[in-house]
Amino acid sequence: MCGIVGAIAQRDVSDILVEGLKRLEYRGYDSAGVAIYHDGQVERIRRAGKVSELKDALANSPIAGGLGIAHTRWATHGEPTEKNAHPHMSKDNIALVHNGIIENHEELREELKSKGYVFKSDTDTEVIAHCLHEELKKHETLLAALLATTKKLKGAYGTVAIDANQPDKMVVARSGSPLVIGKGIGEYFVASDQLALLPVTRDFLYLEEGEVAEVRRDGITLLNSDGEQVEREFETSNIQHDAVDKGNFRHFMLKEIFEQPSVVADTLEGRIVDNQVYIETLGDNAAKVFEQTEALQIIACGTSYNAALVAKYWVEHYLNIPCLVEIASEYRYRTTATIPNSLFITISQSGETADTLAALSKAKNEGYLASLTVCNSPASSMVRESDFTLLTRAGTEIGVASTKAFTAQLVSLLLLTISIGKAKGLAKETEHDIVKALEHLPSEIQKALDQADDIDKLSEAFSEKHHTLFLGRGQQYPIAMEAALKLKEVSYIHAEAYAAGELKHGPLALIDKDMPTVVVAPNDNLLEKLKSNIEEVRSRGGSLFVFADKSAKIQDSDGITVFPVDSSYSVTAPIVYTVPLQLLSYYVAVIKGTDVDQPRNLAKSVTVE
Ligand code: AGP
Repeated sequence: MCGIVGAIAQRDVSDILVEGLKRLEYRGYDSAGVAIYHDGQVERIRRAGKVSELKDALANSPIAGGLGIAHTRWATHGEPTEKNAHPHMSKDNIALVHNGIIENHEELREELKSKGYVFKSDTDTEVIAHCLHEELKKHETLLAALLATTKKLKGAYGTVAIDANQPDKMVVARSGSPLVIGKGIGEYFVASDQLALLPVTRDFLYLEEGEVAEVRRDGITLLNSDGEQVEREFETSNIQHDAVDKGNFRHFMLKEIFEQPSVVADTLEGRIVDNQVYIETLGDNAAKVFEQTEALQIIACGTSYNAALVAKYWVEHYLNIPCLVEIASEYRYRTTATIPNSLFITISQSGETADTLAALSKAKNEGYLASLTVCNSPASSMVRESDFTLLTRAGTEIGVASTKAFTAQLVSLLLLTISIGKAKGLAKETEHDIVKALEHLPSEIQKALDQADDIDKLSEAFSEKHHTLFLGRGQQYPIAMEAALKLKEVSYIHAEAYAAGELKHGPLALIDKDMPTVVVAPNDNLLEKLKSNIEEVRSRGGSLFVFADKSAKIQDSDGITVFPVDSSYSVTAPIVYTVPLQLLSYYVAVIKGTDVDQPRNLAKSVTVE
């Protein structure tokens, strides 16, 4: 969840490190620090707060040097204070940054204390720095010492270290937390995400699980966990440099909401030919697996979990096979029963979510036909560790609150539903109908975006509230859940989502004039049921905001404000209704003055459990 940057070059690296941290700040942003080799020693500056605090501190006391490491933190062990910010040091020579969690840190801490090491922070990371220092007494090179250190660690780490006594290199290690090495001309870089390095290189090499590397100005040495040398080529990335630029938008979240028509078009690109779905990248083997598939088990977290719940409605409706959906953190730790001939599916924007990765790893021993990931990050662990991948093509998502990645997931899941269906004899007419709906989706989303100003006005009704209830039925119930999650994340207003049929079973007790109820009301087979639920709320003095299809015949009246949504296709209606609800959360957050793109206590990529 934190961000790592490192550089070794002929030139001064401090600006490269700080720019890299700015680009990673969406991942973690409660404290930051750098350590740079200068004049025979490692100098360090750390600050609590955002990277801008560190940048100001460096402007006041610059450190020039051609070797350095930097970190932006999302606290797990120890408060977000300066003393807990990375880099952590051992004695005066080792400086180290780390993403992940060291589970056996207490035991190691005691052992290291008995050897005379003094701990200056409350973090688990500091034990790695001291372990490395200790191992250096037994090993000649920094790399050998790091490899030996990794053997002592339990848990997850992506870590980078430098040593004032060996200033011609930095060393890196990866287990459960991604790290990439970037190559320049006579210079090399490392980062936890290639985005951080786009201003300086496009050539990347991803470390694999258990690997360690020595990174010098003239090259790298890569070893596997057994200490054997590994040869791997750098690959050139075509990721866009402007992905981390807000353009004319006030926030990344707004930019990303407005990108959705093109994200949907990109996700469909080349996958619909002559009214039919073809996902060539899945390969022939996938078709064979789909033919045998008699059930799906989908695992995800947060927004990706909500996308999975929508897919459940599609899969069971169109394919008539069971689709089980579960939160990764639950699935990974319980005794599970696998339906014979099930396909295991993970959904993840980042492809690095610790719980989802752990669930995938558990699934490998649970007798599934195969694993498939619906993922937005081509170079991620989830992609590498799954048998099949369906990329969502949302582009880089910077806003911590996921928006365009969600719509891209839904589109991909609908394409996947058809692909599985095709292997199992889905009727051609059904496929054509869904394809038609998908083809109209970018323009329907655009129409929803064109109403942004009206939603901005509507949002004023929510900004002073402390609670909001979201209601939906059928495939719109998960959309209500996603809307509630969005509102919570960015506006800090407590929000709950209920399947509208559940109202009488409890939540009706909450209804009063101070709690708005938002209803997702497309014109589908559940509309009349939903109208009864709307009446139940209204007759108890609740105020309702109904996002309704124009043809649904729900009128503005006392206690009911109707917001019209134009959606002509029932199957894609969940995707269209998502958009005004995202805008609602965004505008409420703007009125409340929260940190929209980096909400408090959250991080973009949850790489620790
Ligand atoms: C979404 O707005 C969230 N910030 C969060 O729930 C996210 O969807 C979740 O952490 C899963 O992430 P992933 O898709 O990268 O696995």
